[in-house]
Amino acid sequence: MSNYHIKHLEEYFQVYRKSVSNPEAFWEEIAEEHFVWRKKWNKVLEWDFTKPEIKWFEGAKLNITENCLDRHLPTRGDKTAILFEPNDPKEEAQHITYHELHERVCRMANVLLDHGVKKGDRVCIYLPMIPELAVSLLACARIGAIHSVVFAGFSANALSTRINDSDCKMVICSDGSYRGAKTIDLKGIVDKALEDCSGVENVLVVKRINSDIGMKDGRDHWLQPLLDKAYADRDAELMDAEDPLFILYTSGSTGKPKGMVHTTAGYMVYTAYTFKNAFQYTENDVYWCTADIGWITGHSYIVYGPLANGATTVMFEGVPSYPDYGRFWQIIEKHKINQFYTAPTAIRALAKEKLDFVEQHDLTSLKVLGSVGEPINEEAWHWYNNNIGKKKSPIIDTWWQTETGGMMITPIPYVTPTTPTYATLPFIGIQPALMDEAGKEIKGNQVDGRLCIKFPWPSIARTIWGNHDRYRDTYFSAYKNMYFTGDGALRDAVGYYRITGRVDDVIIVSGHNLGTAPIEDSINEHPAVAESAIVGFPHEVKGNALYGYVILKEVGKTRDRNNLRKEINQQITEQIGPIAKLDKIQFVSGLPKTRSGKIMRRILRKIASKDTSNLGDTSTLLNPEVVKEIMDNSF
Ligand code: PRX
Repeated sequence: MSNYHIKHLEEYFQVYRKSVSNPEAFWEEIAEEHFVWRKKWNKVLEWDFTKPEIKWFEGAKLNITENCLDRHLPTRGDKTAILFEPNDPKEEAQHITYHELHERVCRMANVLLDHGVKKGDRVCIYLPMIPELAVSLLACARIGAIHSVVFAGFSANALSTRINDSDCKMVICSDGSYRGAKTIDLKGIVDKALEDCSGVENVLVVKRINSDIGMKDGRDHWLQPLLDKAYADRDAELMDAEDPLFILYTSGSTGKPKGMVHTTAGYMVYTAYTFKNAFQYTENDVYWCTADIGWITGHSYIVYGPLANGATTVMFEGVPSYPDYGRFWQIIEKHKINQFYTAPTAIRALAKEKLDFVEQHDLTSLKVLGSVGEPINEEAWHWYNNNIGKKKSPIIDTWWQTETGGMMITPIPYVTPTTPTYATLPFIGIQPALMDEAGKEIKGNQVDGRLCIKFPWPSIARTIWGNHDRYRDTYFSAYKNMYFTGDGALRDAVGYYRITGRVDDVIIVSGHNLGTAPIEDSINEHPAVAESAIVGFPHEVKGNALYGYVILKEVGKTRDRNNLRKEINQQITEQIGPIAKLDKIQFVSGLPKTRSGKIMRRILRKIASKDTSNLGDTSTLLNPEVVKEIMDNSF
């Protein structure tokens, strides 16, 4: 029997040892006993980090939707698969059973096929958190189309870049979306994006807010009438283990976003196995992850991981502050949530509000609390532990990435003793290493370094869509035979890991990864701007916020500064999205540069963080005088 469900610390250590001493045998057993395959693999693992090439379960045939849907029908057909909680608490929640979800996915799959989508084609999904979003992912997977979900907070420009990068031939969107008291014109954003996307043949539109929108003849189709006509069954396409399942874009420190490609079998096995253990999910639990399916957390731990385990997974359309700051806690009470998974930025925002919002609600159903997306600070950890978990629900601080597909370092609740701000121990099968800047592994405990992973795990991304060289250069060239995460970490006296943050030019704002270069490019396009540099600085709620240093051209120097600030943020909103707006913009006459012309971000970061007691060596700068000017005028 494989160790699918770990229940004790000794068992964790024993299974961990097994998983790293013979990974192939370990994963083979898990795969064999807990999933349905149409054909078994020829080889469990083939890998070479120098190329890099990673293949899990090569030769196996399967369809992930048979694992997430069909196989549950005989035993869990009437169990709720997706529990949809709408934006407006007055609108009724929907309990979608496994039977109903299966039918909806099949109908949708038939609509996709009728509109020319074939195995291997890319479909862009730009939807709010409504059931059709999950149905669309699964319908693509059902027919072997590759989904590319774009978070519905991205701008038209960001959307068109992503559609074109992976040559999507279809877009699935809605007329609009609800976000608290506001509505957002999503279809208008799609129309604008599609002015630059000649490859898109069809747009399927979900009616959500009943707004009067323009429909382009021949291209745009209301979805519901098509679903009503479609046949309610559809055989699942036979997929190879290594066929791409989806593309999901993530920001890099430079250049355009990276379309991370995840493949079918390894992703399924790993997300299902981590879900089961990290949440200690048992059959009648109701599980809620507050992430958006536009991010990896939603892909792995709202859709695929939970459904592969036959779980009940909640999808919430709204925001934590509407109609008031008690909304999360009200939902926990209403649906008797057992596992709750959210981001530190949400915890910090809610911790600022009156405790009454929490205390009005019965939270006794909770068994496990999760955190993801950024380091959780000690204060937020304790607030979460004291007020939400009442010191009874363990907090799992789960460290992972879009690229890793699933959780990498995390406590297993009721198994691993937790320590505030520590992601604790590697998950089964994960072999972390800390490296120094010279490329040597730092062994032993009480050390810190750059976090790498030594050995492939089943859900590692296989490539960057259309740019394998960039995949190699970004993740496999810094350290020989290692996957480099881009994060720093420390290992304490007992071997627990604590993630200390990014070591590259990616800044995590409210849990969202933002590369500095694309934001700087967007600012520099403003006619009054000559040059700019972005750094992060600590922010009470967002974790980090963005600080921009901007050099103006002559034409800009006579302009009103506050108007310019507004225009710069407007430009960023249009080109990237409101999540990338700057909190502070300082106009400067120059930026500190090395003799080779590189901006010394370290100095800018210190000034933005008001940590100027030791700026380090500035003597090598081309223009040391500018540092004083920037300091004197900083916010
Ligand atoms: O810096 C780490 C941070 O988020 C990055 C990955 O972001 P993304 O690909 O958007 O995926 C987020 C959801 C999995 C990581 O490189 N990060 C994520 N989780 C944690 C974290 N930092 C500290 N603690 C965490 N638990």
